[in-house]
Amino acid sequence: MKKPLIAGNWKMFKTASEAVALVQTIKAAAHTVSDVSIVVCPPFTALTEVSKVLSGTSIALGAQNMYCAPEGAFTGEISPTMLKDLGCRYVILGHSERRQYFKEDDILVHEKLKTALKYSLVPIVCVGETLSEREAKKHFDVVKIQFDESIGRLGKEDIVKVVIAYEPVWAIGTGRTATPDQAEQMHSYIRRLLNERYGKENGSRVLILYGGSVKPDNTKSLMEKPNIDGALVGGASLKAELFAQIILEAQQSRDAGTHS
Ligand code: PGA
Repeated sequence: MKKPLIAGNWKMFKTASEAVALVQTIKAAAHTVSDVSIVVCPPFTALTEVSKVLSGTSIALGAQNMYCAPEGAFTGEISPTMLKDLGCRYVILGHSERRQYFKEDDILVHEKLKTALKYSLVPIVCVGETLSEREAKKHFDVVKIQFDESIGRLGKEDIVKVVIAYEPVWAIGTGRTATPDQAEQMHSYIRRLLNERYGKENGSRVLILYGGSVKPDNTKSLMEKPNIDGALVGGASLKAELFAQIILEAQQSRDAGTHS
């Protein structure tokens, strides 16, 4: 049975001191949890301080983005080696806000993915369709292209190190979650793409997270689905009690054995 993963994407919220207060509360609330992998992804400016608070705990640190080179003349960018130096184990790549506001495309996301793996960061690669794409019934095609271009060009040995997050853009920060059935449909589709390309044994090892208005009251019904292996949580990860509740719900659905 795979260990579910709950990752908090803090986006551009929290100064370093606010981040310390938040992570201290999360740490206290989650100290009894052992069956769920927990990751927090604060902004770059808070990584150092949050890393100190997390030292010696099982909560992992992640970043929200990185550039695809270890160093160089790339003003304003952050490299994988810098993230590793601060204690990061994970990095979110290709989030829809990066794609939408900063014009990241699948080619760049793939370069970043290869670089993250080269420097032993665990990438959480985001895919997902917009509302108009779903309404035009193109959501499977859109996600297939994102998968093919940004993820599916990796080799077998690398794919098992990748975490995929399916985040329908229309569900992000809108309070409008995909229903568990809608989410599972896409997750099982992504699983099929993985299995076809990499074989069932490798495909089944890849964690596929759902993201988009995940809250304590919808976590269990999402996590009960066979191909939903965890969640990438935005808004609710900024409130320690909500994030802790989501983690506990994930643990319970695992303990109930509803999750394969
Ligand atoms: P949300 O964000 O939980 O606030 O919808 C999810 C995300 O953008 O990763």
